[in-house]
Amino acid sequence: MLEVSGLRAGYGLSQVLFDMHLKIEQGEVVSLIGRNGMGKTTTVKSIMGLLKPSAGSVRINGKEMRGKQPFHIAQAGLGLVPEGRRAFGSLSVRENLLATASRASRWDLTRIYQLFPRLEERQQQLSKTLSGGEQQMLVVGRALMTGPQLLILDEATEGLAPIIRETIWNCLTTLKAEGETILVIDKNLKEMARVVDRHHIIEKGRQVWEGTPQQLAASPDLSHRYLGV
Ligand SMILES: Nc1ncnc2c1ncn2[C@@H]1O[C@H](COP(=O)(O)OP(=O)(O)OP(=O)(O)O)[C@@H](O)[C@H]1O
Ligand SMILES: [Mg+2]
Repeated sequence: MLEVSGLRAGYGLSQVLFDMHLKIEQGEVVSLIGRNGMGKTTTVKSIMGLLKPSAGSVRINGKEMRGKQPFHIAQAGLGLVPEGRRAFGSLSVRENLLATASRASRWDLTRIYQLFPRLEERQQQLSKTLSGGEQQMLVVGRALMTGPQLLILDEATEGLAPIIRETIWNCLTTLKAEGETILVIDKNLKEMARVVDRHHIIEKGRQVWEGTPQQLAASPDLSHRYLGV
């Protein structure tokens, strides 16, 4: 579905990605993990066309998309829940969801409300009055409404209360069972192990390891070296 290879990118003179690799097959749930500032968000921005990579390749369903406009990347099937969640604050929950609805999407309001009953209860409320957890549910719902072939979540549960984190992980488990393809960035390895098929570790702009949660759990030296845990 998505294949990133040899990706280089940065901001002005400061290079952040040196040799990023990432491969996601249809129906897989994979993670991108690594310590703060290692280039996870930069990788996502480069994939989504929000940042122009200087070299490498971003293939979506076999087609080279590196350097294409974000609009074209979205059209090619990628949906992003960005770091630091942003809903359209002056729209209601329902309006937010309908704003990004695509006719081709497998997702509609009914299915989103099944996934997040809380959003249905709050559907008339302005999104800026939602709690942090509800806002995260809303931006996930909004991304699904675009009908993505690959859903990318950058810091899926950062800053959320444990019970809300649980809601987000349960949602990802449901999405996986329904065959969705997901790339998730998060810092909670334990919760992630329940849902991801493979982890990718990034260190200073390079993919340095790839393997299953079981393999990672069996190598404490890896977690210590690259994740600081
Ligand atoms: N807009 C920017 N301009 C200049 N440097 C930036 C910019 N955004 C990020 N960087 C730098 O690029 C490096 C990688 O940042 P990035 O946000 O990709 O890290 P990350 O792995 O997502 O970290 P975190 O876990 O904190 O979200 C960092 O050194 C950061 O300071
Ligand atoms: Mg980040």
